[in-house]
Amino acid sequence: MRIDVITIFPEYLSPLELSLIGKARREGLVDLHVHDLRQWTLDRHRTVDDTPLGGGAGMVMKPEPWAAAFSAVREAGQAVVGGDTEPLIIFPNPAGAPFAQSTAQEWSQCEWLVFACGRYEGIDERVYQHLSDIGCEVALASLGDYVLNGGEVAVLAITEAVVRLVPGVVGNAESLVEESHSDGLLEYPLYTRPARWTDPAGVLREAPPILLSGDHGRIATWRQEQSLARTRQRRPDLLAPADGDTAVS
Ligand code: ADE
Repeated sequence: MRIDVITIFPEYLSPLELSLIGKARREGLVDLHVHDLRQWTLDRHRTVDDTPLGGGAGMVMKPEPWAAAFSAVREAGQAVVGGDTEPLIIFPNPAGAPFAQSTAQEWSQCEWLVFACGRYEGIDERVYQHLSDIGCEVALASLGDYVLNGGEVAVLAITEAVVRLVPGVVGNAESLVEESHSDGLLEYPLYTRPARWTDPAGVLREAPPILLSGDHGRIATWRQEQSLARTRQRRPDLLAPADGDTAVS
């Protein structure tokens, strides 16, 4: 998979050199490039923003550097992934569609992702129009109903969620099957040795005996029940039918 990130704060993305993603990059499973948007400005001050037309607070990102950036990044990427291939262009944005495990699964199958990190109040709307006019697939993705200072933190989160699903990145692929959200439920509680542990307050805490029974069928059933109970308690919204799905009898 190829990933390009366009940002005015390239250093913000340095954690992508660490841990699992860093290893995936070194092993050639992910070809990741971070670009400074300001290299596509033409003025002495390397300006990427201006005041909003029509007035209002804050600043808006100018269209010209973004259009030049997409053109250069697409051209450089196509030289590697193939001339006909278009990336999926992702704008992290609090007004986007909620990013979920299902989105991570879908995007982990993509050959090429380009992330565009907006800052300030946002990016001039004509950039999105231009991209869809030239045939690019564009997605706006939100991490949740709160506002970050820019898209960089969201790119770190989204990239981690996506890249760990790329085949070969997580050593034990089975560990991806039972984790929270993979089947729409939260993960069951986990225990390790010692099975009997006295906590610092002197309370003896024992792991559920069923986990020591060796009966894999009963353990699987217990875990399924725990997942369901935990989801019902912490995230009933995951079990409730979505708005508009009202049952018709
Ligand atoms: N940029 C600013 N806030 C964001 C959010 N909640 N999700 C994704 N990108 C953002």
